[in-house]
Amino acid sequence: VGPDVIDIRKLYAQTGKFTYDPGFLSTASCNSTITYIDGDKGELLYRGYPIEQLATNCDFLETCHLLLYGELPNAAQKADFDHRVTHHTMVNEQMQFFLRGFRRDAHPMAVMTGLVGAMSAFYHDSTDINNPEHREIAAIRLIAKMPTLVAMAYKYSIGQPFIYPRNDLGYTANFMHMMFATPCEKYEPNEVLVRAMERIFILHADHEQNASTSTVRLCGSSGTNPFAAIAAGVACLWGPAHGGANEAALTMLEEIQRNGGVEKIGEFIKQVKDKNSGVKLMGFGHRVYKNYDPRAKLMRETCHEVLTALGLHDDPLFKLAMALEKIALEDDYFVSRKLYPNVDFYSGIVQRAIGIPVSLFTAIFALARTVGWIAQLNEMIGDPEYKIGRPRQLFVGATARDVLAINKR
Ligand code: ACO
Repeated sequence: VGPDVIDIRKLYAQTGKFTYDPGFLSTASCNSTITYIDGDKGELLYRGYPIEQLATNCDFLETCHLLLYGELPNAAQKADFDHRVTHHTMVNEQMQFFLRGFRRDAHPMAVMTGLVGAMSAFYHDSTDINNPEHREIAAIRLIAKMPTLVAMAYKYSIGQPFIYPRNDLGYTANFMHMMFATPCEKYEPNEVLVRAMERIFILHADHEQNASTSTVRLCGSSGTNPFAAIAAGVACLWGPAHGGANEAALTMLEEIQRNGGVEKIGEFIKQVKDKNSGVKLMGFGHRVYKNYDPRAKLMRETCHEVLTALGLHDDPLFKLAMALEKIALEDDYFVSRKLYPNVDFYSGIVQRAIGIPVSLFTAIFALARTVGWIAQLNEMIGDPEYKIGRPRQLFVGATARDVLAINKR
C-alpha cells in the first residue's frame, strides 16, 4: 500500500464503514505485479518491460511466457514453451458440432463466448481452478486453441471448411493460415502482415484491471473453472466501450467516409460535442491514459507499414483517421477532457488491410487478451489474501412494506 492509498479493509474492520465508488474510479481491487500503467506519462510496462521494446524485440509467445511466469524466456525455455503451445493447437473434434449449431450470421463474439465456455465440457482434466497443474494446462490450452476457435468461427461464417492448424508454422502465421488457406489454396505468410498481427497480439495481451480482466477475476474468485472465467472475460470484452471499440471505430470511419470523408470531419466532431446526440468518437478516450495511449502510437506506425507493404499508402480511411486525430487533438473539447486516440483507433485499419472482417476484430482482441486474463487469474488464486469478490451496495429502494392481495394492488 503506497503513501496515498487507504487500505479500506482496515478502515472497514475498525469502523464498519465502506466506500461508494461506482465504476471503480478510485478503488484498487488487488495487488498485482503483472502490468503497470502510468496514465499521465502514457507508459505501459509488462512485468517492467516497456511495451515499445516488447513489440519491437519479442514475439507473442515470448510475451505470453513473460506475462504467465514473470520473466522473458531464454532460448531453451522458449523452445519448450513454443512446443507445449504448438502441441495443443487442435481442438476436440466434437467442438465443431457444437459450433455448427450456431446460425451462420451469429456474431463471432457470441460464438466465442459459447465455444470458450464449452471448453470446460471437453477438457475435464484442467477444470480445478485451485489445482496449479490444472491451471497450467488450462492456460496452455486456452492460448493454443483460441486462434483455432477464432479461425473456425470465421470459416463457419463464410461457409468454408475448417482449416486444421499447421504446427510447422509460428503461432501467428498458423492463425493466418487457418483464417485464409482453403483446401484448394495454400496461404503464403506475408512477413509484414504476420508481424503486424503479432504486434496486435502483443499490444492487447494485458492491460491490468480493465473491465474484462476484473470480470475474469471476479468470476474466478467463486472457484469456477478457468474456461468459465475466461468465457466471462470474452463476454465483457464484447461491449463497445471496451473491446468492441475497434469494430465501432472502423464502422465510424467508414460512415464518415461514405458521408463525404475528410470534408465532413467538422460536422461529425460537432455531433460528438453535442451531448444529446449520443455520438462518441470511437477509439478515443481511456479511463487511465490521460496523455497518450502508447499502444496507439505503435499501432499507427504498424498501420503505415502494412499499408505501404500492400501498396495502399493512399488508403482513404487511414488518411481520414489521421485527419480526424489531428482535428480532435486541436479541439478544446478533447484537449480539456484529455481524450487521445486509444489502441483501437488504428487497429481496425490494420486488420481490415490484412483481410480480417470487421465483425471478427473483437474476437481477435479476445484471442490476444486470453494470456493476460489467465496470468491475472493465476495471480489472484496464488494470493494468500484472495477472497471471493463481493462488492457492497448503497441500497436506495423501498423500505420494508407488506404484500397486498392482488385485487388491492
Ligand atoms: N467521445 C466523446 N466524448 C468522450 C469520449 C469519446 N470517445 N470519451 C469520453 N468522452 C467525454 C465524456 O462524455 C465525458 O464528458 P463530460 O465530462 O462532459 O461528461 C468525459 O469525456 C469523460 O469521459 P468518461 O466517460 O467519464 O470517461 P471514462 O473513463 O468513464 O470512459 C471510455 C472511458 C469508456 C474509454 C470512454 O472514453 C469511451 O467511451 N471511449 C470510446 C470507446 C472506446 O474507444 N473504448 C476503448 C477503450 S480502450 C480498450 O478497451 C482497449
